[in-house]
Amino acid sequence: MSRSPRAFVMGHPIKHSRSPMLHGYWLDHYGIEGSYEMLDIAPEALAGFFASYRETGWIGGNVTVPHKSAVMPFLDRIDPAAEAMGAVNTVYWDGDVLAGDNTDALGFMHNLDDRAPGWQTGASRAVVLGAGGAARAAAYGLMSRGLDVAIVNRTEAKAQALAQHLGRGVSSHSLDALSSLLGEADLLVNATSLGMVHQPPLQIDLSPLKAGATVCDVVYVPLETDLLRSAKARGHRTVDGLGMLLHQAVVGFSRWFGVTPEVTGELRTLLEEDIRAKSPGA
Ligand SMILES: NC(=O)c1ccc[n+]([C@@H]2O[C@H](COP(=O)([O-])OP(=O)(O)OC[C@H]3O[C@@H](n4cnc5c(N)ncnc54)[C@H](OP(=O)(O)O)[C@@H]3O)[C@@H](O)[C@H]2O)c1
Repeated sequence: MSRSPRAFVMGHPIKHSRSPMLHGYWLDHYGIEGSYEMLDIAPEALAGFFASYRETGWIGGNVTVPHKSAVMPFLDRIDPAAEAMGAVNTVYWDGDVLAGDNTDALGFMHNLDDRAPGWQTGASRAVVLGAGGAARAAAYGLMSRGLDVAIVNRTEAKAQALAQHLGRGVSSHSLDALSSLLGEADLLVNATSLGMVHQPPLQIDLSPLKAGATVCDVVYVPLETDLLRSAKARGHRTVDGLGMLLHQAVVGFSRWFGVTPEVTGELRTLLEEDIRAKSPGA
């Protein structure tokens, strides 16, 4: 008896994840019989989950905080992007091989290309604020496109470790260096959690930012952060973080369910409405 394909998103906690809404929309839209389930897995339960992985029949899934690095030893193969980022967000079968990839950098870049077409024309330098998971994805995506990336983080040691890990073209800096880095930047990315609901705002002076620079926030609740609002008011092109979430999901869905889904305006509106309903004012 064949069962319909089941995929998952695992994390701890997980109940706020919007991935089920996103993949559920595509399953409906393409008339695919299958499911995408939310799994709250505590760190101590991870080994047990993978021990029974084959017999449970999962076709794959997404991995989120705090398991993105912890799942790596349980997989047969780590794909190059996941290896470079030291984190897996997508698990899938490649034949009989259980593989782990990371599509966050792809999602970040597709969002930028989609929302700010032509942003890269003449661009050579990016400043990425933060040195956590989102910063890792943004910095990897940008360095892969040949940009020089300056990572600026409150905890400079973390910026140094990330820059060292990513290698050529990526440098690390303390917050004190921000003002002079902004003067040379063609792209500014907020990849900290600052500006997100229930977090302090990101307070930086945008006046030194190079004219014509694009400003991008990975935060998507609220959709328009204070950073984006101020950047827009100063005449910069801005990109919010929602599209990164939408685009990172495309590759996983296609590997699990065999259809490459489209990121449409209708899908984006669905998620925007959900964000606004759950976080009034966002
Ligand atoms: N759009 C998307 O698809 C997407 C994907 C992933 C994440 N995100 C969003 O990206 C944000 C970051 O997520 P993450 O997974 O990268 O988190 P993370 O790994 O915990 O990293 C958080 C980063 O924010 C910095 N930070 C936190 N509080 C700060 C403060 N008070 N002052 C200065 N810096 C501070 C941290 O600096 P220290 O190193 O000094 O602590 C660190 O660099 C979250 O809002 C998340 O929702 C969006």
